Amino acid sequence: MIDREQRVLSSVVASQYELHREFGGVVPEIASRAHVRRILPVIAESLKQAQLELSDIGALAVATQPGLVGSLLVGLTAAKTLALVLDVPLVAVNHIAAHVYACRMAAGRDIFPAIGFVVSGGHTNLYDCASPVDFELIGSTIDDAAGEAFDKVAQILGIGFPGGPAIQRIAASGNPAAIRFPRTFLKEDRLEFSFSGLKTAVLYTVRGVPGAAHSPVPLTEQRIADIAASFQAAAIDVLVGKCRQALQQRDRRVLCVGGGVAANSHFRRQLERMASSQRTELFIAPVSLCTDNAAMAAIAWEQLARGQTASLDIDVIPGLVRKKGLRADRLPKS
Ligand code: KG4
Ligand code: ZN
Repeated sequence: MIDREQRVLSSVVASQYELHREFGGVVPEIASRAHVRRILPVIAESLKQAQLELSDIGALAVATQPGLVGSLLVGLTAAKTLALVLDVPLVAVNHIAAHVYACRMAAGRDIFPAIGFVVSGGHTNLYDCASPVDFELIGSTIDDAAGEAFDKVAQILGIGFPGGPAIQRIAASGNPAAIRFPRTFLKEDRLEFSFSGLKTAVLYTVRGVPGAAHSPVPLTEQRIADIAASFQAAAIDVLVGKCRQALQQRDRRVLCVGGGVAANSHFRRQLERMASSQRTELFIAPVSLCTDNAAMAAIAWEQLARGQTASLDIDVIPGLVRKKGLRADRLPKS
């Protein structure tokens, strides 16, 4: 629940990590069924924490894109039903734009125009944000998202799910210079990412190169920590380097970073270092607003102020947002 002054009155997150852990990744059908079971208790709990009644709600924000179709549908159906029953406006929110907006919420003031960077389990997207509702997609990954790479590398190393926090924890006792993993596209101007080569390099380091004469170095605890630290260093070098290029190419002086991977402390430190060298104002969402949450849907207030409400026959737009894909232009327009 968010009030007009963007104060978070309550924020309830029904994490599903426990349900997906044994599979090492999100299983779509399990996710949507869990949404069905949890959506009403989550709404009730957020009203309770905010000490509000359903009748106090003035507008409803719902993420309609991008994402898994089943999960989006559950949220949209609940939101439409409430909007109809309460007779309040419905606002369709883009989940990725909301990740950038988490920085605006934390700042407590207008921070646009800016470069927005969302680094999550599904996306590694750079935006040129002229205003809070006018985002141009200027870069994305051509294969895996950064968070996905963290999750897959953690699986290769056998250290748990979700991978990001596990890698950060284990990397703390490793040597980031132990193995020189590839930094794909870092030396090129294009605002594109690729993490599948890095992931394969980790796989070969752990299991050995197929057909090679020598076997891999035994996987001791220290070796796992060194691989985790070296992987983290390589992935984050690329993420930070591309932010620098985006700032320079678009001549922006403000950078907003959100999404689950922005919870990574090494990433946050490197971003701060880069931003001060570029004389750039940096906004990183606080950890509680980096990973998925509903509070960042406060971007709906910006849309509502511009009359961007949704009709009750609106549908979800599932899938991933990729620069060259079909969905690149489907961010809310002002
Ligand atoms: O934004 P998010 O919560 O969900 C999506 O919309 O995808 O991002 C989840 C991703 C996962 O891949 C997870 O491994 C990663 O964020 N993540 C991290 C950290 N915490 C979460 N990656 C690196 N370091 C972390 N501390
Ligand atoms: Zn997300």
